[in-house]
Amino acid sequence: MDAISVIRTKRDRGTLTPEQIDWVIDAYTRGEVADEQMSALAMAVLLNGMSRAEIARWTGAMIASGERMDFSSLARPTADKHSTGGVGDKITLPLAPLVAACGAAVPQLSGRGLGHTGGTLDKLEAIPGWRATLTNPELLGILDDVGAVICAAGDGLAPADKKLYALRDVTGTVESIPLIASSIMSKKIAEGTGSLVLDVKVGSGAFMKNLDDARELAATMVELGNDHGVRTTALLTGMATPLGRTAGNALEVRESVEVLAGGGPADVVELTLALAREMLTAAGLPDADPEKALADGTAMDHWRRMITAQGGDPDAPLPEARERQVVTAPSSGTLTRLDAYAVGLAAWRLGAGRARKEDPVQAGAGVELHARPGDRVVAGQPLLTLHTDTPEKFPYAEAALADATEIATGAVDFEAPPIVLE
Ligand code: URA
Repeated sequence: MDAISVIRTKRDRGTLTPEQIDWVIDAYTRGEVADEQMSALAMAVLLNGMSRAEIARWTGAMIASGERMDFSSLARPTADKHSTGGVGDKITLPLAPLVAACGAAVPQLSGRGLGHTGGTLDKLEAIPGWRATLTNPELLGILDDVGAVICAAGDGLAPADKKLYALRDVTGTVESIPLIASSIMSKKIAEGTGSLVLDVKVGSGAFMKNLDDARELAATMVELGNDHGVRTTALLTGMATPLGRTAGNALEVRESVEVLAGGGPADVVELTLALAREMLTAAGLPDADPEKALADGTAMDHWRRMITAQGGDPDAPLPEARERQVVTAPSSGTLTRLDAYAVGLAAWRLGAGRARKEDPVQAGAGVELHARPGDRVVAGQPLLTLHTDTPEKFPYAEAALADATEIATGAVDFEAPPIVLE
């Protein structure tokens, strides 16, 4: 077997054989297939697609490239959630302790930011002392004791995806349904969760820009999960506008704590509860009451224990950026659009994300939203506040935001789309 014949098969719109797939994933993980060959293959897959059978085999080969975790020793059922990535998507932070408070165990192995989308680990690292890396026994211990853990996936879990994902990020090959589905599901199946709820984002701030593509991605992932014995369901949720009122690491932690304290933006609360219900049902706990756990403080209690167990101080003040700049409304009327991609790009440029994977992120950087689509605004009022430690980045963030908003004058028949689309 050789890499060139595998690349040619996909380049010429052929179907990869199971042997070709197993070989190329294994040889790439071992370093026998070079990065430039794998990027050519990834581009051929992006352009020519893969059948469901090819995707299933590809996913299986990525799972087999590393270890599989086992949570069967836990007394409670396991439930996990995965979002396909968005702007202001801090949902994992309140969701994991909330679902744990309702009786499931949540092993949330998470990632860092990718491009304009934020990463859960980058957000939590804004909390003084909190550490993302745990050994497997530590992870199991916290799951057993607290019921929720959010940490970095160990190097042994789907190592083929780790290499391939970093390569796709820099070769324009992220936005491929077969590659996204196999990437996400190989990690989640190897992680060993009993049930999984997928939050498939749709809109400008998501990798899937339209409903048809999001449906196809969701159906592909649900089938992969169920075929591997993980009870899997999916919600399609809106990502045309950022979630909540913040995009940025410490800013999003602050907002998540507000939700756990019984407040927070309505869209973040609604999506957190919708995903919690879905996870609890999938875990066999349909009678659990997440609304009560949020209101009576038990979810907050689990958050504090979860953060403390990973070295974090839940009472420590969160870092703030050194500089701020306000963006004002250019005219009066109804805000009809606040583009998620533009806000994500601005937050990224302000330092909330990284340009290269080894770069550090700024804990305090990001964008605060003072209005949401549907709100009436007056010319000159603050629309956004930009936060950064590197004020020379303000012009780049402003350039990203140049066409981010639309304000309609006169009588406007505007209705914000629902958060959960399907
Ligand atoms: N998240 C992943 O883990 N993989 C992808 O390919 C895209 C989003």
